[in-house]
Amino acid sequence: MSKTILSGVKPTGRPHIGNYFGAMRQFVELQNEHQGGYFFIADYHALNLIQNAEEMKKLTLDVIIDFLAIGLDPKKSIIFKQSDISEHTELCWIFDAITTLPYLKRAHAYKDAVAKGGEENINVGTFNYPMLMAADILLYDTDLVPVGQDQKQHIEFARDTAEKFNRIFGETFKLPEAYILKDVETVPGTDGQKMSKSYNNTIPLFATDEEIEKAVMSIVTDSSGERPANVYAIHKLIKSESELEKIYEENKGKYKVLKDILIEDLKNFIKPMREKREEVAKDLDFVNKVLEEGKNKARSVAGLKMEQVRKAIGVK
Ligand code: TRP
Repeated sequence: MSKTILSGVKPTGRPHIGNYFGAMRQFVELQNEHQGGYFFIADYHALNLIQNAEEMKKLTLDVIIDFLAIGLDPKKSIIFKQSDISEHTELCWIFDAITTLPYLKRAHAYKDAVAKGGEENINVGTFNYPMLMAADILLYDTDLVPVGQDQKQHIEFARDTAEKFNRIFGETFKLPEAYILKDVETVPGTDGQKMSKSYNNTIPLFATDEEIEKAVMSIVTDSSGERPANVYAIHKLIKSESELEKIYEENKGKYKVLKDILIEDLKNFIKPMREKREEVAKDLDFVNKVLEEGKNKARSVAGLKMEQVRKAIGVK
């Protein structure tokens, strides 16, 4: 049975292969398996971080181009900007009214922000983030939400909120499920920690050959074993373990050779996507048309759901 797939990406800069293997690749696989899906740019989520119009515009456009470059297909999927569909923020407000403060304080993202900067420095938008995300998901009767491991709790919040609304106002929302690939729960970076921009250990998804070389050369290798664990962990993302077994066996202890092989494999893997990206970036008319169509399609679905919600709560 075909399921409704939905996911969003915040426009926060160049994606890296951790983003790709952790979440984005699954967008494409699920799109193909389920004849489409909803994929949107979470620009209102990003407003908590990006408070500059030029930057917002540029980063948003970048995500749409990234989507098209990795293989999201506007003939199958609905690709749109969150801010184009005002139902997201409207539903967020309604969820706010049925959600308690201590419940939202349980969010990992909130706790991390408190640990980093203190509660007095957190904006209300950051605190409220999970409710906007619940609205994103629940407006479209979503079954499956492909996300990285770090977003799992947010999907649980969306489920809880759907249940709570249904209990108070009657059956309205479908309960979504997170979709997380088990074998890539966390993608390792060049230093062996989780790949993340904040650790400065990433390999960009659309990297040039020079960037790939530089990143791989910087992979930390410990001298204790014959197999450089961090090189292997990244290699495993793009080559089967049986193929790798042979290569790493034949080149025991030869870290430079192994890194060179990884560089070649990464170049071959990244090149077609990088070229596709360059091609899409040249055709902004096409990109804008995709967004316009996505807006119209998403709006008609979200609009119907909101009609149902307004009736359920008694404002209509
Ligand atoms: N919070 C997600 C992230 O940081 C982005 C996001 C916003 C999202 N709304 C969503 C993901 C709805 C899935 C579904 O990665």
